Amino acid sequence: MKKILVAGGMGYIGSHTAVELVSAGYEPIIVDNLSNSSESMLEPLEKLCGMRPKFYKADIRDRAAMDKVFAENEIDAVIHFAGLKAVAESVSMPIEYYENNINGTLVLCEAMRAAGCKKLVFSSSATVYGPTNEPPYTEDMPTSATNPYGWTKVMIEHILEDICTADPEWKVLSLRYFNPIGAHESGLIGEEPNGIPNNLFPYIARVASGKFDHLKVTGNDYPTPDGTGVRDYIHVVDLATGHIAALKRLDEQNGYDAINLGTGKGSSVFDVLHAFEKACGRELPYKIYPRRPGDLAFSFANVDKAKRLLGWTAKYDMDRMCADGWRYIEHVSK
Ligand code: NAD
Ligand code: UD1
Repeated sequence: MKKILVAGGMGYIGSHTAVELVSAGYEPIIVDNLSNSSESMLEPLEKLCGMRPKFYKADIRDRAAMDKVFAENEIDAVIHFAGLKAVAESVSMPIEYYENNINGTLVLCEAMRAAGCKKLVFSSSATVYGPTNEPPYTEDMPTSATNPYGWTKVMIEHILEDICTADPEWKVLSLRYFNPIGAHESGLIGEEPNGIPNNLFPYIARVASGKFDHLKVTGNDYPTPDGTGVRDYIHVVDLATGHIAALKRLDEQNGYDAINLGTGKGSSVFDVLHAFEKACGRELPYKIYPRRPGDLAFSFANVDKAKRLLGWTAKYDMDRMCADGWRYIEHVSK
């Protein structure tokens, strides 16, 4: 059974990917410093995987700890989710974001090189398309960013490409995620951000569970069909299976590449709200607020490259994303 090091595997996307790894016949070896997750994730993971995944509480910036993980396990490839991800926080804490995300990636790559493991799947983001490209975004478009979080993704992509250019033994895929939402169908794992959520889906979920009295719709005067922002939401389990396809792709790929993981379809804020109302069975109050600074009217992927190179397409629709997301919220509110 091939062992896959899942850096950041106790988090939202990493935990769902660990489950899919096991069902695809891989053994996940999880490394996480628990800065945005908790060891209690091991309980649902054990239920869903049918075995307790091997877990190291370690920081990917800790070279000695990473060397130990590689020495104790014959790792075939690494999936790298370990990073800080809150856009607004990155604007107020740029040093911490650059240090954690970029230094973390460098130390991880050093440890991989020392261990002779040179296959990596990296969590990038649609944010690298920046403010000037027009959707649908294709992977050959120039990248840029508008905040430190986004710049860490742009910079790490360049670093990984340079590593592959310097040493042809490396094989790296950056997966550019669009907007992951929803939860595992069991309701056992999902996303429950600390504090007030910045993103739409967890905010709607809190309105549905009665924690907030209304959704703040940030802008209804965009040049979109209903005036609200349009995004390419993707079920987190579809995203997870995209990583399995990416691992298989690495075996036949030479060097570096980047691939979008989205559905290719756009949904407005009201589309998501109404789908969530169907899932939870009641109307959810909302009020219109001013636009959020830096927000785009539209963001959605061209997904041809994923289909062509990974043989992968997303299969779940918005109703399913909301139904599964709501099941998880009901589970954690019990
Ligand atoms: P998450 O915060 O739930 O998971 C990240 C995990 O990494 C956490 O468990 C955290 O404790 C861990 N971590 C952070 N820094 C670490 C370090 N230095 N050493 C070890 N562990 C560390 O986030 P997520 O939503 O699962 O996102 C995973 C990755 O995908 C991130 O890199 C994120 O930037 C990227 N991404 C996420 C989204 C999204 O909307 N969720 C969109 C695009 C890209
Ligand atoms: C956010 C990040 C982006 C990241 C992406 C990945 C910001 C500014 N951007 O983008 O870097 O790559 O997630 O998932 O955080 N909305 C509301 N009310 C809310 C929250 C959001 O109406 O309370 C609207 C927004 O205006 C937007 C849509 O909902 O039109 C989606 O917002 P969000 O979930 O934050 O995702 P992104 O803006 O795509």
